[in-house]
Amino acid sequence: MLKGEQGANAKKYEASLQAKEAGCDSASGFFRESSQDEGRHARILQGLLDRYFS
Ligand SMILES: [Fe+2]
Repeated sequence: MLKGEQGANAKKYEASLQAKEAGCDSASGFFRESSQDEGRHARILQGLLDRYFS
């Protein structure tokens, strides 16, 4: 689950860069913001794992 969030973060960030290169600023912004959400999800999950399972 954590790897899924981390992977989504990386892939969506990558997609934002590709959209920017293609000149599609709205898609780039969408993917960038969405990648930031995935990064937050990953940090939340990591915090829960550290707190309750380590
Ligand atoms: Fe997520």
